Amino acid sequence: MRTTTTTTVLSLAALAAAPLALAAEKVIDVRPRPTWCFFGCDDVLSAIHFVDKNDTLGYYESKIASPLYVTSVVACMQTYCAANAIPGWDYVLKYAAENGAEGLVPSYNDIVKKLPPLSSIPVIDVETIGKNESNMYHYPVIPNQENFDHGKETEIWWDMEMIQHHAYGWSMYILLGLMVAFGIANRLFTLYVARSHKYTVDAESGAVGGKRGPMTSAYTWYRAKISTPALLGYRHLQPWGWISIPTRIQAIAIAFYVLLNFIFTLVGYHTFDHHAYWPTEPQSFQLWRYVADRTGIMAFYNLPLLWILAGRNDILIWVTGWTYQSCNIFHRWAARVAIVQAIVHSAAYTWLELRHEKYSEFWAEEYWRMGVFATVCMCLLIPFSLKPVREKAYEFFLIMHILLAVVVLVMLWYHVKIFDGSYNPWLWACVGIWAFDRLLRIVRITVLSFRTATGQNTVATMTGGSEGLIRMSINSSVRINPKPGSYYFLYSPRSIKPWENHPFTLGSWEQTDAGTTLHFLFAPQAGWTRSIQKRIAKVNEGVAPSTSMRVLLEGPYGHDHPVTSYENILLVAGGSGITALLPYVFALQNEPAPRHARHVTVVWVVRNAHYAADVLARELAPKHTAGIDIQVYVSREEGATASDVIDGLPTEVAAEVESDDGSGSGPQESPSQEKPVGKGEDDSDGEGHLRIRSGRPTMEALVARSMSQLVGAERLAVLGCGPAGMMDDLRRAVSTRYGSGEGQVSGSTIEYFEEAFMW
Ligand SMILES: Cc1cc2nc3c(=O)[nH]c(=O)nc-3n(C[C@H](O)[C@H](O)[C@H](O)COP(=O)(O)OP(=O)(O)OC[C@H]3O[C@@H](n4cnc5c(N)ncnc54)[C@H](O)[C@@H]3O)c2cc1C
Ligand SMILES: *[C@@H]1O[C@H](CO)[C@@H](O)[C@H](O)[C@H]1NC(C)=O
Ligand SMILES: *[C@@H]1O[C@H](CO)[C@@H](O)[C@H](O)[C@H]1NC(C)=O
Ligand SMILES: *[C@@H]1O[C@H](CO)[C@@H](O)[C@H](O)[C@H]1NC(C)=O
Repeated sequence: MRTTTTTTVLSLAALAAAPLALAAEKVIDVRPRPTWCFFGCDDVLSAIHFVDKNDTLGYYESKIASPLYVTSVVACMQTYCAANAIPGWDYVLKYAAENGAEGLVPSYNDIVKKLPPLSSIPVIDVETIGKNESNMYHYPVIPNQENFDHGKETEIWWDMEMIQHHAYGWSMYILLGLMVAFGIANRLFTLYVARSHKYTVDAESGAVGGKRGPMTSAYTWYRAKISTPALLGYRHLQPWGWISIPTRIQAIAIAFYVLLNFIFTLVGYHTFDHHAYWPTEPQSFQLWRYVADRTGIMAFYNLPLLWILAGRNDILIWVTGWTYQSCNIFHRWAARVAIVQAIVHSAAYTWLELRHEKYSEFWAEEYWRMGVFATVCMCLLIPFSLKPVREKAYEFFLIMHILLAVVVLVMLWYHVKIFDGSYNPWLWACVGIWAFDRLLRIVRITVLSFRTATGQNTVATMTGGSEGLIRMSINSSVRINPKPGSYYFLYSPRSIKPWENHPFTLGSWEQTDAGTTLHFLFAPQAGWTRSIQKRIAKVNEGVAPSTSMRVLLEGPYGHDHPVTSYENILLVAGGSGITALLPYVFALQNEPAPRHARHVTVVWVVRNAHYAADVLARELAPKHTAGIDIQVYVSREEGATASDVIDGLPTEVAAEVESDDGSGSGPQESPSQEKPVGKGEDDSDGEGHLRIRSGRPTMEALVARSMSQLVGAERLAVLGCGPAGMMDDLRRAVSTRYGSGEGQVSGSTIEYFEEAFMW
């Protein structure tokens, strides 16, 4: 069933991409160009050996300087395309002027005046007799009609191919534009739905989820099959080996993009015999030359795209509300596509040149070597960006990534130098996007931390002894009004790696006279966070004087999810993921009372009794959480039980705990073992509860319980932040709830939001 949906969705994407490809071909400008007349004649006459041609001059210079050639070209144009001759000749004059030969080439009409009668000039078959190396011409000639047609066809198709290469490149931006439009529309729609929802009990049906029209079922299908689930139904945050798995909607966008690139590499080639550029080559030579150009040009178009998908400060993120994570997944695919295109481009050109065993000649050219190095560096980016590298050595990955990216841009600049700058805009676009991001990072750091240029602004402690979370309180230099969902990058400017920075979600904050104190809670890992932990440990052991330090802040980034407009809100955290939920808890507390009844439940699954008690005693203390149900599940990986947490609480908090199984009556792994929802107990009476249990709930059971509390047209928002496996369970628990079956609801009844601590 699941695979069928996926196949359907992917084939739909394929079907939709094909007409786009055809449409793109249709809009290509095929108006005849006046230059075809001149170049058609020029191409065929290039094969002729005129005695007055000085081969020590350049390719074009030697032609312009040969009166026999000039007379022959003009005679050819007079014979086959006199009406379009002058614009073509203007091109020659322009070329001569650009190369310091202004005035040396006569005007077209002057040449025509001096031209001998056309009938006196022999018409020859350039393709057979003209090309013979031993035939030297000391008189002008006119190529025959067939020769001219081949020359013109060569020109037409060269132009057509160029137009297509660029049109297909542009279509990537059109696709991105459509996605952005979809993103904006989706954002506005979500806002509209959230704002306009009227709390009304559907008296007639009494059913949860309200009306069920065709629009509603379409929307429900969209939520159930497209927007919410992971690509293959389950794994999203949990990778498959080294591969991150997008959600289905992301996968569709990516599939579309990859498919379009693929189709656009395959279509629109036209080859024919007697090609005037490569008269002795087989048709496959023409094909591969076009493929080589197409892939090279499309790779160039894809570069700014992959840059714009990688920035922290990014216009794309601002307008669409996409998360950095989603952009990052797309960034990787755009990069993969560009790299494959670069490889095909390089391989095809290598093949084209190797046929003549002239490789050393090409290697001597700067543009060639730079192109080869650029492709090699692009390929090197892949192993350095693999998931294991990012996980084990994030800083190494980052440095290599930036270095190689810079090297690629510089080499590409030299690679396309031969085109006199016509391909530089794509490179400058990358530089511009990058510079914009970096500049804004500096601006953000400066604004938030300028007062800390000297002195300290941060205190770091461990929650609950030596283990547990690190609690870091940082004074910002200006007063800010944080919103839920924001995260900041923290720098230690006095460390040996002052550029190193790590993202952390803002947990809570206080306004002070001078600015705002931001509180972060984070789990120690192996790198920067571990060094902070060690430093705190030293202070605790009395080895170091204080835990004050200087930390630079860069932010805020991230979007808040509109959970507050829902009547029922289920916030689910695993371990340190509680940090991301705290701002929502406070927002719900501080917001003026909504017009509708609201039921907020926080479920926190945690294994460390020390930090659980610490957070419960502070951020989640009853005075901050009135009217909110808090359920703490102490999972037993570290042997802690509910009573360990309760023992760690200050008495006034412990007094509030309703612990039915504080002794640890066993883990609650399945819904059947869930405590039945008793009347009155879970009713929202505005008082809230703090319950601490041992064991682990299933995500299914949590969602089921929240859904059972929905009345009439009430809606449920589920927001999760925690370990990958738990979040994937939660996503699935929500996405299987859409539909018209037993226990299922319409698309607008439940919404799933996720905060992830990774990308
Ligand atoms: C948006 C966001 C918000 C986060 N909020 C919190 C939070 O509130 N509390 C919390 O405990 N953790 C949070 N994290 C995770 C936290 O950023 C990492 O645990 C931290 O960067 C690890 O630093 P380290 O040097 O000790 O890492 P290491 O031990 O070297 O690596 C541990 C893991 O963190 C990843 N990581 C390391 N550096 C970065 C980086 N600069 N950017 C992204 N990932 C990195 C690595 O890939 C690896 O998987 C958040 C992550 C993101 C992306
Ligand atoms: C060819 O051009 C070079 C450079 O301008 C010049 O020195 C040489 O004399 C020319 N040869 C002939 C045969 O005109
Ligand atoms: C080239 O022209 C010469 C002289 O006209 C002739 O002898 C020779 O056979 C021609 N070569 C070919 C390949 O046609
Ligand atoms: C942060 O600011 C508050 C209020 O101004 C002050 O009491 C505190 O000492 C400051 N913390 C640090 C580490 O400077």
